[in-house]
Amino acid sequence: MHDQPKYIPLRESTFFSDSRSARPIVEGTVARGHLRDDELTYTGKMDGKDAAVFPMAIDARVMARGRERFDIYCSPCHGRTGQGDGMVVLRGYRHPPSFHQDRLRDAPVGHFVPASERDRIR
Ligand code: HEC
Repeated sequence: MHDQPKYIPLRESTFFSDSRSARPIVEGTVARGHLRDDELTYTGKMDGKDAAVFPMAIDARVMARGRERFDIYCSPCHGRTGQGDGMVVLRGYRHPPSFHQDRLRDAPVGHFVPASERDRIR
């Protein structure tokens, strides 16, 4: 059992002409769970513009989840109430704008998908 005829990942092989034991990944292969082909869900945009609709139905459960995610990922800068006075800002990070202004109240929901998320998706 200790010595089995198997290839260990990335180990050399005499079987294939390119000397690799692993076969190259087929072009267009997407890792499981990484097929982000839904523009609205993953970028907040439709036809390249900030979407005015959510990609799913909004209910109390979704709102609670959003609050939880905001408190974890956004509040360190934007503050728990969206004033832009999060803890890292109080300690010297750049001050984000307050969310409590008409320009942002009137903005389509897609505007609130952070650019950092968009970059990660590309
Ligand atoms: C590391 C600090 C930081 C974190 C974390 C952060 N932001 Fe921001 N955010 C900023 C700053 C600073 C700006 C202002 C950027 C600018 O004006 O160029 C900003 C701007 C924005 C804007 C644009 C507001 C406008 O004026 O149009 C939105 C929307 C936004 N953030 C949403 C979020 C969301 C949602 C999260 C969490 C998923 C988040 N941000 C996390 C620092 C942060």
